[in-house]
Amino acid sequence: MTQSPGQGQALDNLLTESRTFPPSDEFAAQANAQPELYEEAKADREAFWAKQAERLHWDTKWTQVLDWSDAPFAKWFVGGKLNVAYNCVDRHVESGHGDQVAIHWEGEPGDSRAITYAELQREVCKAANALKSLGIGAEDRVAIYMPMVPEAIFSMLACARLGAMHSVVFGGFSAEALRTRIEDSSCKLVITTDGQFRRGNPFPLKPAVDEAVAAAPSVEKVLVVRRTGSEVAWSDKDVWWHELVDGQSDVHTPEAFDSEHPLFILYTSGTTGKPKGILHTSGGYLTQASYTQHYVFDLKPDTDVYWCTADIGWVTGHSYIVYGPLSNRVTQVVYEGTPNTPHEGRHWEIVQKYGVSIYYTAPTLIRTFMKWGADIPAKYDLSSLRVLGSVGEPINPEAWIWYRENVGGGKAPIVDTWWQTETGAIMISPLPGVISTKPGSAQQPLPGIGAKVVNDEGVEVPHGGGGYLVLDEPWPSMLRGIWGDEERYRDTYWSRFGEQGFYFAGDGAKYDADGDIWLLGRVDDVMNVSGHRISTTEVESALVSHPTVAEAAVVGASDATTGQGIVAFVILRGGAGSDAGGAEAIKALRDHVAKEIGPIAKPRQIMVVPELPKTRSGKIMRRLLRDVAENRAVGDVTTLADSSVMDLISAGLQSGKSED
Ligand code: PRX
Repeated sequence: MTQSPGQGQALDNLLTESRTFPPSDEFAAQANAQPELYEEAKADREAFWAKQAERLHWDTKWTQVLDWSDAPFAKWFVGGKLNVAYNCVDRHVESGHGDQVAIHWEGEPGDSRAITYAELQREVCKAANALKSLGIGAEDRVAIYMPMVPEAIFSMLACARLGAMHSVVFGGFSAEALRTRIEDSSCKLVITTDGQFRRGNPFPLKPAVDEAVAAAPSVEKVLVVRRTGSEVAWSDKDVWWHELVDGQSDVHTPEAFDSEHPLFILYTSGTTGKPKGILHTSGGYLTQASYTQHYVFDLKPDTDVYWCTADIGWVTGHSYIVYGPLSNRVTQVVYEGTPNTPHEGRHWEIVQKYGVSIYYTAPTLIRTFMKWGADIPAKYDLSSLRVLGSVGEPINPEAWIWYRENVGGGKAPIVDTWWQTETGAIMISPLPGVISTKPGSAQQPLPGIGAKVVNDEGVEVPHGGGGYLVLDEPWPSMLRGIWGDEERYRDTYWSRFGEQGFYFAGDGAKYDADGDIWLLGRVDDVMNVSGHRISTTEVESALVSHPTVAEAAVVGASDATTGQGIVAFVILRGGAGSDAGGAEAIKALRDHVAKEIGPIAKPRQIMVVPELPKTRSGKIMRRLLRDVAENRAVGDVTTLADSSVMDLISAGLQSGKSED
């Protein structure tokens, strides 16, 4: 397998990790999950999922649990009809919980808002009526490009209510990234804000929308929420949220849609420059989001206060801020801003303020907290925390232990949850109260889920062995395709182990001696930077689109805080970059990548080199570049067409290194 030396080292570290943390008797006794859940799912998988689907309100019950006859295109809960928004909002009001707070929203500048389920229902109905008045109906695509404000959640639910598909684009993406996503799925409407608060300052957001929409003819209207109050340019497509939505009726009758009715598209990076529009549908997706929220987080809707720190621009925000929690009648915190504004204790201050009991975040943030120091969380009362979660990348045992000790009071179970945009919901994770946790391992597929580690031939490896992670059974929240590209869907996920019919996740993994799964990172050209997926090709295309660049190669190098950092090697065209150390040229390139993709894709380092290491067939040997980027001795160069290239690169580096 194409495992990098970096991954090999990580593996060695993991192998020395043998601590386990059994749940306390007290936790186990009250846990939603009991050991029988595994037995039940094993005994009859489809009956198990049918039972989980009963967590939802169906207007029409399904006649068949799973139809896999058209594999790899699954149909779950065939013939069933439901409304996703009704399941997340209205039914809780109808069951007498209208006064329960659904969302404790905390703005970065310190403003806050408590939104009850009754209020959420009114807001979602008004938004649905407003969208309808703009001509939005079933299966229309709506782009949502917003910061973490309540209206973003209202908008997603309003789309779901109308059967329209949302395509949420992370607010940190550039105008160009937004335009390509709008264009790919022909969005009719864009919902945005004037701006957003970041690190204590208002930043404009609408100008990026203006730029994207100018080149995206499918867009008929732009609905704009006022958040920062900054001045914005205005066109005849633009409509203020407060002018249109606030005056709408707060009553809207939801329509029941087919279980396989499309719910949303979410773009994620693949191994080519073009992001993939991952398609999710309604009944199966909501079933698994709801089931996992209940069992993996041990959610008790009457007493817990839950907080997932993700942004709605990523799948975690979709499944574990909107659909999973709300379908379970959660009370949750939604925070708008950055973790160190106005100080590095902001998260812990919020935990203390609301009595947060379940906290779900990413390893990169935990490592950042570690850097800031354990004395910061120690200043706050975190005794309300009883379950901690981790997602987005492998968590190193050191960060896991720090999290447990300094955030979880040495006792809160940590659920390390492995899943992907494509899987829609959590797939591999310990169940708190049932499984003894291990620092750094996601451990076991959830009841009802089939996952294995296999070798190149698709044969399961023995305990202690490593290979590729595959999913060997269809699951309810699986993607139903890539928007507009059936072939890419088959190629990317179903061809590598086509014979066996396995879904190829793109991750390396290993079994330990007990058969627990340890994730080892991507095995393809996808980087994981602060838990965000960015493809090397995407950054390379951005770089070569700059007039000074002749050629570029990008690698993900291990990074103590962000997991991986983006390191680019570029060959400049004659004459470019001849100023002192090429510093100006490098700055221009970093800014160019931010403009093409977004600041998250800015290379950590750009190295100007005279040549790139290539095989005789012209393939760039990234392994060698990764050695350079990670300051290691360069590995085997015998397959290079010109083995002196690495010497040239090393010599050139002395002058062309840029870091900030
Ligand atoms: O490599 C795995 C890593 O993140 C990838 C999925 O990225 P994305 O679709 O952006 O979704 C992130 C949030 C679900 C996976 O292929 N990944 C995610 N969670 C974990 C992980 N790697 C190790 N351990 C995890 N818990």
